Amino acid sequence: MSTIRKPVRTAVFPVAGRGTRFLPATKASPKEMLPIVDKPLIQYAVEEALAAGATQLVFITGSAKRAIEDHFDSAPELEAALQGKEELLDTLRSIVPANATCIYIRQPAPLGLGHAVLCARPVVGDEPFFIHLADDLIDAKVPCLKQMAAVYAEHGGSVLGVQTVERKDTDKYGIVATEPMSERLSRITSMVEKPKPADAPSTLAVVGRYLLSPRVFDHLATIGRGAGGEIQLTDGIAALLKEEPVYAYAFEGKRYDCGSKLGYLEATVEYGLKHPQLGEPFIQMLSKLLADRLRRG
Ligand code: UTP
Repeated sequence: MSTIRKPVRTAVFPVAGRGTRFLPATKASPKEMLPIVDKPLIQYAVEEALAAGATQLVFITGSAKRAIEDHFDSAPELEAALQGKEELLDTLRSIVPANATCIYIRQPAPLGLGHAVLCARPVVGDEPFFIHLADDLIDAKVPCLKQMAAVYAEHGGSVLGVQTVERKDTDKYGIVATEPMSERLSRITSMVEKPKPADAPSTLAVVGRYLLSPRVFDHLATIGRGAGGEIQLTDGIAALLKEEPVYAYAFEGKRYDCGSKLGYLEATVEYGLKHPQLGEPFIQMLSKLLADRLRRG
């Protein structure tokens, strides 16, 4: 007998980090507002969550994050100034559809990703929920969270988006050990935050997509500080998987690490090349730049 599971309604966007790798750009403006071509990272994130069926969007914010609230708010003065420019007005009005609600919760201090997620508990309640880290941009035919919602509909439990990384990079990620189930799906047996390459149980890394059982909140509330003195989401999930199934799902799509400058530049170039209006002139411009550069040696 198959179980009917309720759709996942809530998506949590932790955006309270300091974004130190992008200073000075992130001194007064959030990393999540950095644009890829013409859209900020956080808007790509919201679009992905809406495509996966979320209608309640919870932003965990900190200092210098006002721009995110303004971005998802109505802008009557700007709309008045754009009267008659229907295309631009549509672009503005479609940022958040009418059936979605934005909720902002302040994380009092950046005590870690696990602590940021715990701040969402009063709103999420006793339902499974998505977590989306906007600086991991994933370009996919079927949006990544939607792929994960389909896995959840079939298997229940919790689902983490994973990707194989180079062994030298394991100390940048949560790394999982798993028992394979099918080509893209496995069950997680253990999880460790940022292990040294020699200590990593595998090279399967968790990237910024999670669909979690609300039971994780109980663990986040009690685990205390972990690696780097922060309350780690990884530690909460490591406790969760001892009592409930947690699956690793190798999603279909390409991920860009927009929290690093090189990953951000790569995303900018690839999204620029794919842009319906800019793609053609952009490739010509890039070709010329590269040819000039090669000629000069
Ligand atoms: P990162 O590890 O990327 O940290 O956080 P960061 O502060 O954003 O960036 P760097 O490393 O200093 O450049 C992962 C995610 O967790 C959120 C961040 O906003 C990011 O989306 N986060 C982290 C919080 O919301 N609160 C925290 O206390 C820590």
